[in-house]
Amino acid sequence: GRVPVDARTVILGIETSCDDTGAAVIAGDGRVLGEAITGQSEIHARWGGVVPNLAREAHEEAIDDVVRRALAEADVAPEQLSAVAVTVGPGLSMCLRVGVLKAQSLCHEHDVPIVPVHHMEAHALVARVPELIGEKANETNETNDASPRAPFPFLALLVSGGHNQLILATAIGEYRVLGGALDDALGEAYDKTARLLGLDVGGGGGPALEALAKRGDPKAYRFPVPLRKRKDCDFSYAGLKTAVRLAVERDLGKPADSDAFAKEAARDDRVSRDETKDAPDASLDAEETARRDAIRADIAASFQFAAVKHLEERTCRAIAWARTSLAEEDEKRAEATEPSARDLKCVVVAGGVAANATVRATLGSIASEAGLPLVLPPPRWCTDNGVMVAWAGVERYRLGLAEEAPSAEQMATPEDETGRPARREVPLLPRWPLGTRDARATGDVKSSKTARIAPPLRGAPG
Ligand code: KG4
Ligand code: ZN
Repeated sequence: GRVPVDARTVILGIETSCDDTGAAVIAGDGRVLGEAITGQSEIHARWGGVVPNLAREAHEEAIDDVVRRALAEADVAPEQLSAVAVTVGPGLSMCLRVGVLKAQSLCHEHDVPIVPVHHMEAHALVARVPELIGEKANETNETNDASPRAPFPFLALLVSGGHNQLILATAIGEYRVLGGALDDALGEAYDKTARLLGLDVGGGGGPALEALAKRGDPKAYRFPVPLRKRKDCDFSYAGLKTAVRLAVERDLGKPADSDAFAKEAARDDRVSRDETKDAPDASLDAEETARRDAIRADIAASFQFAAVKHLEERTCRAIAWARTSLAEEDEKRAEATEPSARDLKCVVVAGGVAANATVRATLGSIASEAGLPLVLPPPRWCTDNGVMVAWAGVERYRLGLAEEAPSAEQMATPEDETGRPARREVPLLPRWPLGTRDARATGDVKSSKTARIAPPLRGAPG
């Protein structure tokens, strides 16, 4: 059943699903009390993506301090916590495990309930942190009624490094997937394009490419807008990526190891050696350097133009689909006294790519054309962070979805056949759909990766 939540409810959120170690403490009314994060893009910059082993090591090194900082800033002792929320999936198992182990030991030691959180749900729900409070962290707002910024039902465009989805959200845990990625997610396409253009990706490929695109002409190259002929809400960025690669090869020449491009295009995981960076060439004079730089900027701007146009077109269609579904459900419910109560309330854009200014502006006009408010989390809550997990924790805790602290038995380290300590099983869901696919969505999930997929996330029973 429901658990009362108010300003005295305090929840710690822990996020380690990919390459950011994040923790935050949030109050039940949405006040962010403490926030800490450590990124790893510098560690992974010389590789073609996030390297799971390196990521796990970096999480292990950072986790204690990140959690300690968040608690210290909040001035909250672990035993004062109402619950600890932690991302259990989807993500890299090795990385998820670090956060879950930390949450389990905190909960066990201080007898605090634990709330398992779905990473993509957390991305979407952070748009519901009450506004006044969310923006003015650390100020107690007595008059706050904690009304969520993004009320249900809403349409969420979730764009990150691993996911590209349009979701109709009708309640906590009630999500319908209107469209998903047929191949690369947009964040991944940003990252790969940034490396293709030889940018310094130590601060993340997305931000680097966005900065370069600001100096370019988005109409200089006419890259194809993906999937125009498919009248659904799925996404594809593989073709655009190839078009960009061909433009780079034609107008900037093949880089030192041209094979790397082919290898890069052929792989579908994010882990490959990055050998695409141009070696600095002393023979290029200043004029030539400037010319090449202008071409790079034009390619970046044109890539972003087509990429965001694709988001725009799919989101427009998804708004129409969402409205149709909600109207049909209203009709089916004979007892529906107030049909308009189930109208679409707003559009949410979240996930790492939602930090991008062009994405934010473009989706703003799409929403306003549809007569809907657009709710955007602040950029630092779009990329992975602890606040989104803590807030998803608040929403789930309220619905009674917290679990008891792990018992001594659950915490015990098992022994293998030879009597040596073995790895303890921790409950992780590395492949975990956010919801069930809408009947109108025709795309398939990547077939090679359908093994061991958990059943979709659920809300409170009944
Ligand atoms: O949500 P997130 O932090 O991690 C995942 O769950 O994947 O998203 C990371 C992705 C990366 O691919 C990154 O390049 C992209 O979001 N990203 C951006 C920007 N900031 C982060 N893409 C475009 N423009 C940005 N400003
Ligand atoms: Zn994410």
